[in-house]
Amino acid sequence: MKILVTGGLGYIGSHTVVELQNEGFEVVVIDNLSNSSLNVLDGIKAITGKKPIFEELDLREKSKVQDFFKRHDDIAGVIHFAASKAVGESMEKPLLYYENNLGVLVYILQELIKKKNTSFIFSSSCTVYGEADEMPITEDAPVKSAESPYGNTKQVGEEVISDTCRVNPNLKAIALRYFNPIGAHPSTQIGELPIGVPQNLVPYITQTGVGLREQLSVFGDDYPTKDGTCIRDYIHVVDLAKAHVIALQRLIQGDNQENYEVFNLGTGKGSSVLEVIQSFERVSGKSLNYKIEDRRSGDVVQAYANTQKANEVLGWKAKSTLDEAMKSAWDWECKIRS
Ligand code: NAD
Ligand code: WQD
Repeated sequence: MKILVTGGLGYIGSHTVVELQNEGFEVVVIDNLSNSSLNVLDGIKAITGKKPIFEELDLREKSKVQDFFKRHDDIAGVIHFAASKAVGESMEKPLLYYENNLGVLVYILQELIKKKNTSFIFSSSCTVYGEADEMPITEDAPVKSAESPYGNTKQVGEEVISDTCRVNPNLKAIALRYFNPIGAHPSTQIGELPIGVPQNLVPYITQTGVGLREQLSVFGDDYPTKDGTCIRDYIHVVDLAKAHVIALQRLIQGDNQENYEVFNLGTGKGSSVLEVIQSFERVSGKSLNYKIEDRRSGDVVQAYANTQKANEVLGWKAKSTLDEAMKSAWDWECKIRS
């Protein structure tokens, strides 16, 4: 069965391509290499023994999207990762984010609704919950008004899909709300490749550990939490990737209750920034140079998932501990810098 993975050479996409190929799916990847490189194909081949079919294509070119679906009329499902994802950049270039994250989504859905029966998985984010009132966060927690154009593209993206599904019963879709994906494939063949200075905590920590950055700034230690630093739900990217395959199988087998569903993907466990640093120090045997700085604007105090719906309905549960995920991130960082 042929599955299109957009953004399949990116961080989460490449790990999902591996899991799809391991489950016997035939994968076609579209990527414009704006935040990834062709070498990722070699990494995927080293793990699975097979390169996916690859098309270098910018999905913002609507006619090319139309042409792709004409040439591949046997695509049974789409996992849509391709997007721009830097929150700060989205404040500076909102139209880039609305075009890439929403325009492209519309183009793909316009092609999918022409098909008799099709499955669509969307990369959403826990960012849609904003500062949630209750922890852990369930899927029916209110979606809060977004702090950034990036966050807004995920909220509106979900609405675009839900509205489209309402009037197109042939389209089955699932939005997966990721908490904080970290780590790399245990083979160290693929992993996260941030361009420039990392904005996210774990790549900043591993780059500091390896000597590429001088010091980690911890953004605030005066939050109302156990040690004053923010709490997040860090999930191993391989666990996250496996959930995509399970969600896709649910749609293909027709096990879905409604033709649009939403699931949280997290571990259910909240970890503070200082606990993440301690995890790094445990698995690397190194002490991390860090300094407490001012709060970063826009950060929520805490966000961790209630995972009951994904556990019970999808039959999926994150398996890796924070230390296991951190170890894989560290092994990957050491490998790419060696
Ligand atoms: P990534 O940047 O590593 O991967 C995205 C891939 O899409 C890249 O390879 C990029 O080159 C490609 N791409 C972007 N625009 C494209 C276009 N117009 N045409 C073709 N290819 C294009 O990002 P990621 O971390 O793997 O995230 C994947 C998805 O998950 C994104 O939608 C992101 O918003 C979402 N998400 C990520 C996180 C996270 O923390 N990484 C959390 C929640 C949600
Ligand atoms: C985690 C914690 C920081 C860097 C962001 C996006 C969100 C999303 C995932 C996509 C926070 C602290 C960080 C540093 C630090 N993705 N920190 N020093 O903020 O939960 O989410 O990425 O949808 O939309 O907003 O993740 O990794 O940036 O931060 O102290 O140098 O680490 O303050 O508490 P975040 P993060």
